Amino acid sequence: MSDTAKRRVAILISGRGSNMTALIEAAKAQDFPAEIVLVVSNKADAGGLEIAAQHGIATVVIESRPFGKDREAFERALQDKLTASGIDLVCLAGFLRLLTPWFVRQWEGRMLNIHPALLPAYRGLHTHERALADGVKIHGATVHFVVPEMDAGPIVMQGAVAVRADDTAETLAARVLAVEHQIYPDALRLVASGGIRIENGVCRTRATGSADDRLISPAVI
Ligand code: GAR
Repeated sequence: MSDTAKRRVAILISGRGSNMTALIEAAKAQDFPAEIVLVVSNKADAGGLEIAAQHGIATVVIESRPFGKDREAFERALQDKLTASGIDLVCLAGFLRLLTPWFVRQWEGRMLNIHPALLPAYRGLHTHERALADGVKIHGATVHFVVPEMDAGPIVMQGAVAVRADDTAETLAARVLAVEHQIYPDALRLVASGGIRIENGVCRTRATGSADDRLISPAVI
């Protein structure tokens, strides 16, 4: 694929930006169908901003705080920046701000999010703590299209890990995060290359299931 055909992607962050970094690294591959052209943070002290700049990617801070409860005013500023940058696709990567239906509609079918759980289980916060409290044996992460409802929307890709008997929220989070760093770039590749279509709120793809499509936990020895 020639560079000019690549989809132009903006990543929205609020924090350390490890998923952002995974996307930036993956997009360096010549055959990757998207290029990361902009990183936007709603927090000036987000660690990810410096990492993005080190990779030579344009960064911009649009602080949400001064807009207070006027979420749409913040989003109009954001939308202006995205439009001016010719963005095709938006990736939310630890972007800790609820988006209004107005903004979500602007990016319908063109905005992805990563969530640290196997949706539709564990929407919201503290997913790892809640999974451990419930004693689930398999946990994971989901890349999905963003819809007005929080942590919902057509699922593009999921990755799972076995929960270990001695897991803490931290150890589990670390293994899930490693999965996130794998599935977010893969999902973006799939979406940017046109390999997904949404039918009745469900993603359809020609991509096959995982080569090893059985995960049983715990293993009985
Ligand atoms: C990631 O684990 C992401 O899944 C989560 O925030 C973290 C951001 O880390 N997102 C959510 O919980 C959204 N509901 P990062 O800044 O290192 O990518």
